Amino acid sequence: MYPINKVLPDEIDFLQKLSKQTFHEAFSSGNTEENMTRYLEEGFSLDKLSRELKDENTAFYFVKSENEVIGYMKLNEGRAQTELQKEDSFELERIYVLKDYQGKGIGRQLLDKAIQLAREKKASYIWLGVWEENKSAIQFYKKNGFIAFDEHYFMVGDDKQTDIMMKRTLNVEAEGS
Ligand SMILES: CC(C)(COP(=O)(O)OP(=O)(O)OC[C@H]1O[C@@H](n2cnc3c(N)ncnc32)[C@H](O)[C@@H]1OP(=O)(O)O)[C@@H](O)C(=O)NCCC(=O)NCCS
Repeated sequence: MYPINKVLPDEIDFLQKLSKQTFHEAFSSGNTEENMTRYLEEGFSLDKLSRELKDENTAFYFVKSENEVIGYMKLNEGRAQTELQKEDSFELERIYVLKDYQGKGIGRQLLDKAIQLAREKKASYIWLGVWEENKSAIQFYKKNGFIAFDEHYFMVGDDKQTDIMMKRTLNVEAEGS
């Protein structure tokens, strides 16, 4: 088990560094350098991250291995959801594990924590948007009980990309747990 802890306001510099690094690792090969730079500057500015850290409907979590941060996730509820689905839905906006640590069950552990938090909030389902070209993440979500239900658009610089929206219902009886 890898410890998962809520990101504190004074960890913002590290959160910014990790956010940029993991986004770059995951998507630099599929995007122009210019669009990537623009997205990293705007999407992960200290201003934006600081607002998000203060938002009571948003939470970031770090996962660590031997005191080293190796991944993170960002969760939104209520009005903080990037697209308001329902008041009682719960968004997994980001989930990233550093490349060297992928495939070791850490993503699954983060996802389990997200589901546990969503259940505690009595959410009816957890949802996310994933780039249609990110086949491995789509496989990861499918394997973990998510199903596609819609599509939406997402800008990386001036490139309009399609996200597949996926969700997993949290109805306890339907899941048989
Ligand atoms: C997607 C991501 C979070 C998954 O985390 P991870 O730690 O690599 O995944 P895990 O090791 O926990 O895998 C959990 C399960 O999903 C499966 N899985 C993971 N990646 C998979 C893939 N590419 N294809 C098929 N199955 C996959 C694993 O086999 C495992 O199933 P098992 O326990 O039955 O063997 C991680 O790979 C990542 O950060 N990727 C880059 C960033 C990214 O794309 N984030 C999502 C943006 S929407």
